[in-house]
Amino acid sequence: MAKLELAGVTKRFGSTTAVAEIDLVIEDNEFFCIYGPPGCGKTTILRLLLGLETPDEGEIRIDGRTVNDVPAPDRNFAMVFQNLALFPHMTVRQNLSFPLKERKMARDVIERKVGEVAETLHITSLLDKLPAHLSGGERQRVAIGRSLVRDPNAYLMDEPISALDARLREEMRVELSRLQRELNHTLVYVTHDQEEALSVADRLCVMKAGRIAQIGTPQEIYNSPISRYVAEFVGSPPINLINGTFDAGKAEFRVEELGVALALAGELDQADGKAVIGVRPEDVIIERSEDGISAKIHEVEPLGAFTIIDIAAGEHKLRAQIPGQPQFELGEPVSVRFDLAKCHFFDDSTGKRFATGASLT
Ligand SMILES: Nc1ncnc2c1ncn2[C@@H]1O[C@H](COP(=O)(O)OP(=O)(O)O)[C@@H](O)[C@H]1O
Ligand SMILES: [Mg+2]
Repeated sequence: MAKLELAGVTKRFGSTTAVAEIDLVIEDNEFFCIYGPPGCGKTTILRLLLGLETPDEGEIRIDGRTVNDVPAPDRNFAMVFQNLALFPHMTVRQNLSFPLKERKMARDVIERKVGEVAETLHITSLLDKLPAHLSGGERQRVAIGRSLVRDPNAYLMDEPISALDARLREEMRVELSRLQRELNHTLVYVTHDQEEALSVADRLCVMKAGRIAQIGTPQEIYNSPISRYVAEFVGSPPINLINGTFDAGKAEFRVEELGVALALAGELDQADGKAVIGVRPEDVIIERSEDGISAKIHEVEPLGAFTIIDIAAGEHKLRAQIPGQPQFELGEPVSVRFDLAKCHFFDDSTGKRFATGASLT
């Protein structure tokens, strides 16, 4: 069990800055996700924690103690890598025992631990099989099991299930949440899959090009994205963004060509100029009336529990997610409204959110 910290950490590889000025505190027993696109520095953060890389600047701390000079084995983390590798000539039992044999543990202790972990991961029936005879999901469980048999300070996992198919990933997500609760250990989990990050994490950080864009609970990140980048990067289908202008004197946001004029609430620290409204697809309301923005149905994608509808309002394309299976004709004229309480407003040049919520003027 451990609290992990990166304080002002920068790591460069030659002329590439892999991560810059990372400030991150991962609490004891927390399920913490690092979420970001490929190349944004996720693996580098794990390797810095592990001690496989040394920061150029800043400090790595475990339970408040600076460990920059502590070699990897002494940090006692268990790692599951992106490209899992089981020993092909060893059975599942031997694979699971390996980390413990390396540590010269007594045979009966090893047997007991391997038994417990196999039980937890529901792989007891596989113990005498070779990796070649396992499915992808089973192999992944064994790889995770191999990190669980030890009693580490924390578990670090680097996209451990990204290679599995969608259904298995869903199953493993649930398993991982359960495991983390049962193990009661700090788990740092790297993923580029937003569903994974949002569903398993106690908290997550969203990364952008080697820097932290936002840290928060999944709800905070989804409901109060700090910037257009975070708003766009979290949420599927992605948030609708429409360019407009902000009038600071009137605290008003307008999209002239759509006839949209909205009064923004609160003290706004935002100058006149170009601004962007963000509306999540589930906050777009489509009606057969004359009241809202005039639009046409462009595409209808029924998905059972909900339907994705593309609408065209002038030059603008918007996407709505409507519960159930509403019936619309292609080309049908409709009226569009937004759930104004949930709309976000971003500065066009910096991308920073300056307001959430609006009312009709
Ligand atoms: N050993 C290395 N040598 C040179 N460049 C590296 C090395 N490791 C990572 N990088 C670079 O650092 C950046 C971040 O990489 P990485 O942490 O692997 O990203 P992610 O895991 O988010 O995909 C990338 O631009 C990558 O090319
Ligand atoms: Mg990586």
